[in-house]
Amino acid sequence: MKKRKSKGVSRRDFLGVAAFGTVIASFSGMVAWAARLFKPDVYYEETKRVRIGKPEQFPVGTWRMFEEQRLFVFSDDQGLYAITAVCQHLGCTVYKTDWGFQCPCHGSKYDRDGNVIAGPAPRGLPWYRMDQLVDGTLVVDMSKEVTKGTKYLYT
Ligand code: FES
Repeated sequence: MKKRKSKGVSRRDFLGVAAFGTVIASFSGMVAWAARLFKPDVYYEETKRVRIGKPEQFPVGTWRMFEEQRLFVFSDDQGLYAITAVCQHLGCTVYKTDWGFQCPCHGSKYDRDGNVIAGPAPRGLPWYRMDQLVDGTLVVDMSKEVTKGTKYLYT
């Protein structure tokens, strides 16, 4: 009796190739997983500390807006203070008026201390902590709110 010859790949060869492919895929997965261990699970946020300059750049009775940071810094006879320019409704940039701040988007109005006086804003404009570096530079920390009315005296 004549034995029938199979055509193409034998079952044994196919299983060998499949096993080898499985080993390679598993090894690749383990290498990728191990490489991931060397990458720290840290998300670097943009710093919220803003250098605004030296105290002499803020004469009493003046104010400045830091457009990029959307921040107002005021100087009066009681000290310096920083108030956000970000509307607490949906985040538009407020502008300063004679009586306080106005949002151009939906009409929220804030008094000079940032308290809501009209419009849909659910809360007032936050004031931020201010520090002075050893070289005299003033820094506003936009991640730390302070009580409205907190003013800083620096020389
Ligand atoms: S974003 Fe300012 S009132 Fe809506």
